Amino acid sequence: MAKRLTAPAIASRKVANGGEPLVMITAYDYPSGRMVGDSDADMILVGDSLAMVVLGYGDTLSVTVDDMVHHTAAVARAEPKQLIVADLPWMSYHVSVEDTVRNAARLIRAGAGAVKLEGGTERLPMIDAIIDAQMPVMGHLGLTPQSVHAMGGFKVQGKSAEAAMELVEQAKALQAAGCFSIVIEGVPRRVADLVTESLDIPTVGIGAGPGTDGQVLVFHDLLGLQDDFLAKFVRQYATLKTDGIAAIERFVGDVRSGAFPNDDESYHISDDEAEALGLYGSGK
Ligand code: KIV
Repeated sequence: MAKRLTAPAIASRKVANGGEPLVMITAYDYPSGRMVGDSDADMILVGDSLAMVVLGYGDTLSVTVDDMVHHTAAVARAEPKQLIVADLPWMSYHVSVEDTVRNAARLIRAGAGAVKLEGGTERLPMIDAIIDAQMPVMGHLGLTPQSVHAMGGFKVQGKSAEAAMELVEQAKALQAAGCFSIVIEGVPRRVADLVTESLDIPTVGIGAGPGTDGQVLVFHDLLGLQDDFLAKFVRQYATLKTDGIAAIERFVGDVRSGAFPNDDESYHISDDEAEALGLYGSGK
């Protein structure tokens, strides 16, 4: 097995310094952990996007620490070679520093090698405490889905010069606090470039253009496993929902026509035993 990438190794992967762009993909359970684990991606994010793509909620706010622990442990059991980053869900790092450290530790004990949390300077006491307890932290700035109500919807952030400069300052503060990398979500590409250029640690973009130090996509979006809503930045590399429905329909048809299961797909007893049962004819 290839050596698992560590948070310190990720921290030095800056494209401007000749580093290869980072690739992060979400996974939420054992099979998706196995699939991404068998790929050449660098990091797996057990994202709180599981709220929408796995649990069917409308936003990420309903996901709990228990949910995140459950899904992180399932991904970790796949033993992927990638660094596993687990999202701290909404309200798991907002109440107190002590609460935050305990919640982060639960994710690490479940198998994550780092945690991710949303927000800037308002989160610095929490970030300091997690890092102080020896747990690597990835930041998340720009369109931060846990702030959906405060932002007035899922809206592109950093669109004014002032907001863009504020993003740069927030990113620098997260870097100074010791974050090993920062996700930049839903910001204009030139603003993401500005943030990326102002940091020594790598940025990982989603809806932030091509100039970040890496990209992250949601497993279900990348593979076409969901088509409820596709953001502008999603590129689908497969159509697994359509292909899956077609496969299910073939199964339904085969059962109804008697074509499934066939003899090769059935277990057998010997002819002697069949005869003892009064069953005649072979192969059945
Ligand atoms: O939960 C998630 O999938 C995320 C990505 C969008 C970065 O946080």
